Amino acid sequence: MAARIVPVEPFDFIVLGGTGDLARRKLLPALYHRMRDAQIPDDARIIAAARSSLTRKAYQTQAMEALKEFVPDFDKDIAARFVKCIDYVRVDAESGDGFSELKKKVEKDPRPIRAVYLAVGPSFFAPISEQLKKAGVLTSKTRLVVEKPIGHDLESAKELNARLAKVIAERNIYRIDHYLGKETVQNLMALRFGNALFEPLWNRYHIDHVQITVAESVGVEGRGGYYDKSGALRDMVQNHILQLICLTAMEPPSHFDPNAVREEKLKVLRSLEPLRNGSLGDVVIRGQYRGGKAESGYLEDAALEESSTETFVAMKVEVANWRWSGTPFYLRTGKKLRARMSEIAVVFKDTPHSIFDEDAGSVRQNVLAMRLQPDEGITLSMNIKDPGPGGMRLTSAPLDMTFAESLGRDDLRLPDAYERLVMDVIRGDQTLFMSGDEVEAAWTWVDPIIETWAANTDAPHPYDAGGSGPEEALALMHRDGRRWRDIE
Ligand code: BG6
Repeated sequence: MAARIVPVEPFDFIVLGGTGDLARRKLLPALYHRMRDAQIPDDARIIAAARSSLTRKAYQTQAMEALKEFVPDFDKDIAARFVKCIDYVRVDAESGDGFSELKKKVEKDPRPIRAVYLAVGPSFFAPISEQLKKAGVLTSKTRLVVEKPIGHDLESAKELNARLAKVIAERNIYRIDHYLGKETVQNLMALRFGNALFEPLWNRYHIDHVQITVAESVGVEGRGGYYDKSGALRDMVQNHILQLICLTAMEPPSHFDPNAVREEKLKVLRSLEPLRNGSLGDVVIRGQYRGGKAESGYLEDAALEESSTETFVAMKVEVANWRWSGTPFYLRTGKKLRARMSEIAVVFKDTPHSIFDEDAGSVRQNVLAMRLQPDEGITLSMNIKDPGPGGMRLTSAPLDMTFAESLGRDDLRLPDAYERLVMDVIRGDQTLFMSGDEVEAAWTWVDPIIETWAANTDAPHPYDAGGSGPEEALALMHRDGRRWRDIE
């Protein structure tokens, strides 16, 4: 079965922050790939906008350089065709310069669909949207894409949502969480709601616990300025990891459409048991990586003398509703860990009684592991008889649902999350984007943790760069008679 590519209508895709890292690393490569696969028509137009004074030609040259650097299977003919679609305009968010020029460009030869992507720092989201509105670039049909972080706490998120609401309708705001564009994350929904097999087991009666790990091997490399004000809780948990919990824990939506899916996710966010004050020390562990002989530590990477910003968080979370009460969700995320590995592991309960004698070996818990990266795929570990003579001996073997192999498509290239999400914006499909309510519900849960930390003088627990996180995070699981899966 070949991948299905549905071409989209011609569009204007305006990227504010066109010279920035996100545009260069992710957005231009994503659009390039979609054009290569004939999903984007040649008369689509990408208008990059930024503060630098650049000619169209000079920007096209920069875009070409970015593609060479960030597209592994770069093809110069396709790239040449692609950069022809790109235009450039200089804008300044503070003075408002350039926005009328931008408007002239789009109005002169408008395409049926208009999307504006704010690939800029969060402090510019509201001012730029207001400038766009004033200049007449945001019409009632324009789609506005905003990156995270949406605020740094509940109050600032509410303020931003309110300012955006003044210039554009909620149905036209696309709040990106790129984790929702990852192949396995979408597959989690296909697996849960496309198979009758799992639903009867997907609850507190059969699932012992869920572990979500998003481990990175890299440190904060050059992003210390941003990261030190953010930390792992705001950078990863408030958005990506809570979204993963939502998709794992939500009730089946009535349809795979934005309202139905987002409503169910919102209910999960509102069911999260609040974590605050006294209880925090035991169930929320924060850590900061320290250097060793070969590895630099956080303070060095971020060029700081001291900091209590966490580069690691592990926590035990309760989804307090009828389906999940008593089944904990353990989360952990961190920088400079042993390996890059992200997965959602659903660990099923022990068999009620073992009929096998000791020589057979132990009956292990079944684990459904959905691996987001690298090596995307889903495995279900099963206990089987160790093949061959020697009597009844048990061994655990994975039922492997690695996509490319099981579909007989070894050459399958899984699209980057941004390819999928950018095309969803063009198609006008908000299903994989966060609503304003979701963002606010997530901050409502995260804020008390931040406040508790702020009132507390304890430093984050140190952990070795290249390790598995602080000892205290291991203890969090051990206390409950469980263990984290290996980071590998
Ligand atoms: C971003 C965070 O949202 O996600 C980064 O700001 C993090 O700190 C990144 O490195 C991880 O994304 P991915 O797709 O590489 O797992």
